Amino acid sequence: MEIVILGGRRQIGRLAADAIEQLLRRKPEAVLGLATGSSPLPVYDELAARHEQGLDFSRASAFALDEYVGLPAGHPESYREVVRREFTNRVNIAPENVHGPDGRVDDIPAACEAYEQAIAAAGGVDLQLLGLGTDGHIGFNEPGSSFASRTRIKSLVEQTRRDNARFFNSLSEVPHHVITQGLGTIMGARHVILLATGAQKAQAVRDFVEGPVAAICPASVLQFHPHATVLLDEAAASGLKLADFYRHTYENKPAWQGL
Ligand code: F6R
Repeated sequence: MEIVILGGRRQIGRLAADAIEQLLRRKPEAVLGLATGSSPLPVYDELAARHEQGLDFSRASAFALDEYVGLPAGHPESYREVVRREFTNRVNIAPENVHGPDGRVDDIPAACEAYEQAIAAAGGVDLQLLGLGTDGHIGFNEPGSSFASRTRIKSLVEQTRRDNARFFNSLSEVPHHVITQGLGTIMGARHVILLATGAQKAQAVRDFVEGPVAAICPASVLQFHPHATVLLDEAAASGLKLADFYRHTYENKPAWQGL
């Protein structure tokens, strides 16, 4: 796991966008894994700006991490809408190549299985963006999630519902259930980039980066990922014991290595 501590959200957005740009130039038909929430927004802003300068997404495809169950079609906070509004509508990715779990179907297990098959049929995710819950979740894999889990329905813990209430008019509007890629699904991505900013993430960052690998902190499974990059601001990194070592390592990294 590579830990990179940066000055703020814009620098984080630029560095993650660099990795995505390099991937697209090397592999125009790349499969991107998209997160929602606040953390990836600077990445999407940066990619939209680079698209205006010519970065081409026409052969790429994308899979969202998760979706609320039960929000009506077109609800502005459904992740399908958020992904469209914040990212895919702002670049030239083909709408039919943008996928997300469907939280409105009757047969959720069948839809989850179909989603897994669609990811596999696309050749797997090349680069997965991740945010981090204050309870250590990635996707909506809450504490206790199996490290082998695949796409399925999950219940949100109250802390996550409260954290996400800022996107809704009130806490009561935040759904209790979600469909999320599993930890096993996420671990199948060839490269994962996790973004975390702000002091409210510091404890979860410390737990998953330097704590034991344990289901109580789902993101800790990334310690087993062969290519995981963690981009943090100073506040999110403030609880890390080895912060100076991570800074030193990144400052002295050979330029050819990339992320
Ligand atoms: C969203 C997702 C969640 C968020 C996490 C952090 O697709 O999978 O894991 O990434 O809850 O949310 P923010 O970035 O809003 O702090």
